[in-house]
Amino acid sequence: GTRITAQTLLEKKRAHEPITAVTAADYPTARLLDEAEIDLILVGDSLAMATLGHENTLSITMDEMLHHARAVSRGAPHSFLVGDMPYGSYHVSEEEAVRNALRFIREAGMAAVKLEGAHPSLVARLAAAEIQVVGHLGLTPQAVHRMGGYKVQGRTLDAAEALLEDALALEHAGAVALVLEGIPRELAERITRHLEIPTIGIGAGPGCDGQILVFHDLFHLTFAPSAKFVRRFGDAASLFRDGLADFKHEVATRTFPADSESYHLPVAVAQAMAQ
Ligand code: KIV
Ligand code: NA
Repeated sequence: GTRITAQTLLEKKRAHEPITAVTAADYPTARLLDEAEIDLILVGDSLAMATLGHENTLSITMDEMLHHARAVSRGAPHSFLVGDMPYGSYHVSEEEAVRNALRFIREAGMAAVKLEGAHPSLVARLAAAEIQVVGHLGLTPQAVHRMGGYKVQGRTLDAAEALLEDALALEHAGAVALVLEGIPRELAERITRHLEIPTIGIGAGPGCDGQILVFHDLFHLTFAPSAKFVRRFGDAASLFRDGLADFKHEVATRTFPADSESYHLPVAVAQAMAQ
C-alpha cells in the first residue's frame, strides 16, 4: 500500500470515514499498528509515563523522543507519522521550536509534529518551514500544573467559545489536523463541524473525525486506574503475567527447555566424547 498523508486524512474527513490513530514508542508496536492499517501513529510524549515510568510528561527530552521516534519510523512504512514536541522544546523561542521540529523530520522520519496549546504564530512559522503541524487543544497534559490536575476543559460558555476560537486560529495558521483531548462531546462536535481539517479525539466523544488512544491503555499495559474514556481492547498485562508464571513453573519443573528445543552434537562427536 501507499503512505497515508495529511491529504488522505482530509479526504477521510470529507468522506465521513473515521480516522484511526494510536500511539507507539517502539519498533514492534509500530509494525503492528502499520500492519493493522491504523491511519496515524503518534510518538506521543505520554511514552514518558507509559514506557519510562515517569510521573507526567514534563521531564521527557527531545533526545529521548527522537530515540523512540526513530524506532517507530523503522517499523511503519504506511501510517502517517507524528512526533510529539516535548515540554520545553517549543516554549523558549520560535527559532528553537523550528530547530527541534526539524529534528523529528530529518533525524526520525516523522511526517509531522504535534504541539499542545494555542500557538498559531508558531504553527504558521513551522508551516513556512515545510513542517506539517498537528495541533492539540483541551486537556493538554504539559499544562498539568496550570490546570491543577488532569481536568476536563471547556465546560463553561467562555471556555468553550475560547476553545473554538483557538481551533479556528490553528486551522488558519496551517495546522493539518487537531487533537481534541478531555472536552465535552458537544463542544468537540461543534469544533469538528466548524473546521475543515480533521479533529482526532481522546476523551472528546464520538463526534470527532477520528479517535486516538494510547497503545498501553488500549491493551491494559498500565498499572493505575484508567480514565473514563479508555476502552480496553485486550489485556496484555494478564497475558504477560500468565505467561511469566508458566515460564517460571516450566523452568522450575525442568519441562523447559525440551529436547526439541535443544541443540545436539553430531553423532560422531558425541561418540568420540563418550570414549
Ligand atoms: O502523548 C500522547 O499520547 C498524546 C495523545 C493522547 C493525543 O498526546
Ligand atoms: Na502528548
